[in-house]
Amino acid sequence: MLETCAADPVSRALYPPTVPSPERPLMLRRALFEYLRNPLRVLSRPVYEEPMVVFEPAKGRLVVWVTRPDLVEQVLVGGPDTFQKTEVERRVLGGSLGDGVLTSVGPHWRWQRRTMAPLFRHQEILAYVPEMSIAADGLVSEWRRGGAAVRAVDADMIDVTFDVIARTMLAGGVPAEAELIKREGTIFLANSSWELAWALMKFPMWLPHPATFARKRAARRLRGAVGNIVARRRAEGESGNDLLGRLLASRNPENGAPMGDEDVISNVLTLLEAGHETTARALTWALYLMARAPDWQEQVRAEVLSVAGNGRIEAAHVPRLALTDRVMKEAMRLYPPAPVIVRMATTEMKIGDATIRPHTQIVIPIYAIHRHRKLWEDPDRFDPDRFLPEREKALPRTQYMPFGAGPRICLGMSFAQVEAVVLFATFVRAARFDWDGHHEPEPVSRVTLRPKGGMPLRVEPIS
Ligand code: HEM
Repeated sequence: MLETCAADPVSRALYPPTVPSPERPLMLRRALFEYLRNPLRVLSRPVYEEPMVVFEPAKGRLVVWVTRPDLVEQVLVGGPDTFQKTEVERRVLGGSLGDGVLTSVGPHWRWQRRTMAPLFRHQEILAYVPEMSIAADGLVSEWRRGGAAVRAVDADMIDVTFDVIARTMLAGGVPAEAELIKREGTIFLANSSWELAWALMKFPMWLPHPATFARKRAARRLRGAVGNIVARRRAEGESGNDLLGRLLASRNPENGAPMGDEDVISNVLTLLEAGHETTARALTWALYLMARAPDWQEQVRAEVLSVAGNGRIEAAHVPRLALTDRVMKEAMRLYPPAPVIVRMATTEMKIGDATIRPHTQIVIPIYAIHRHRKLWEDPDRFDPDRFLPEREKALPRTQYMPFGAGPRICLGMSFAQVEAVVLFATFVRAARFDWDGHHEPEPVSRVTLRPKGGMPLRVEPIS
């Protein structure tokens, strides 16, 4: 497989930062240390080179990393009852997201997913585009008021994607609690690695770690804030057709009971959280890549101007913004916003040649699959042409999978894809993004993929 490491500055810019990978799987203590710095640092070289890696860092603690597309398919798409979401995920996210659609399993999950699915139908998503454009224009106006400046683009993207999710999912628009929800959501996830490490070590939940207090406080504030939003809607007495309305009107098919307040809060919070931070990360990395690759940036700008002129981006423009879409896809290949999926084997079974015992953690490292040496040519190079239609068609569906696969595939996938294109097109048309030539942020997994040290970029509005 071709591996290139370019020496000249222009080509070097096309090789954006990666996560350092150890030569071999790490033994327990070292793995724990690296895990707390960045969980992706435990992905050793073989994970990027082999179809699957089975490793026992300590007696009885087996970890399996699966990367070959047909094996990934077996885990995620094959028997939904054979491989389930794990207790780890529930433990890490459950404090704030409760037993909502992202963290539950079995009939409780199925009911919730069915209740929310209509919000993500094609027609609904197209109807959300004007709100997406309004939110994007709001940020552009702020940039124009400030003039050319170095901005924390990561924070800007969190603000704008939260604005979109609140405007589209909550009929009342952006609630008074928005700032608190954004702030506490970020704190909750920033402290996730301790909980993850504790869970993987099978330490009991009552055993505190340095982030226990911060996480509990953030979760309490988040649930309290969303509880206020739910209580206000109940007091208004009408349900409405938005997310909250649907949840309040839904009935459990098994017993006809309405959804309890705790589950309503869990699901509103799930969509607010799952629905903004991931897309914010995708946009942040995409703008960084544009700043490193000004030629691509010019091409995207030219496409947006030719498709939409200087007017607001509309639903009809989205399918015509093909190059813009390819750039977003390549950004999510190099920097998948949700970089790892974990499942647990419920029964003894085989993956490839390996026999997997019940309760074994199966890790699907999307980040490593997207940069796998045997699957991609020159995998660390930024090259949106990988997603030209005929080349994209040839990719197995579990080789490029920023949204996961199978029955638990991202509920908001189409929403996120449309939103990313609308926002990205609006931003690249409205401003130039410059890289200082030095900032090489390590991608760090805190459930979502964050740039270490944030993402300061020079943003120069185009008049
Ligand atoms: C670029 C943006 C996004 C990415 C990369 C992303 C990625 C993912 C991935 C990988 C999963 C599967 C997790 C697993 O199998 O364990 C997932 C699940 C989910 N996502 Fe997204 N997501 C994005 C945006 C959104 C948006 C905008 C929403 C809602 C508005 C959303 C809502 C959800 C929900 C509810 C689930 C759980 C589905 C279930 O378990 O049935 N996501 N997402």
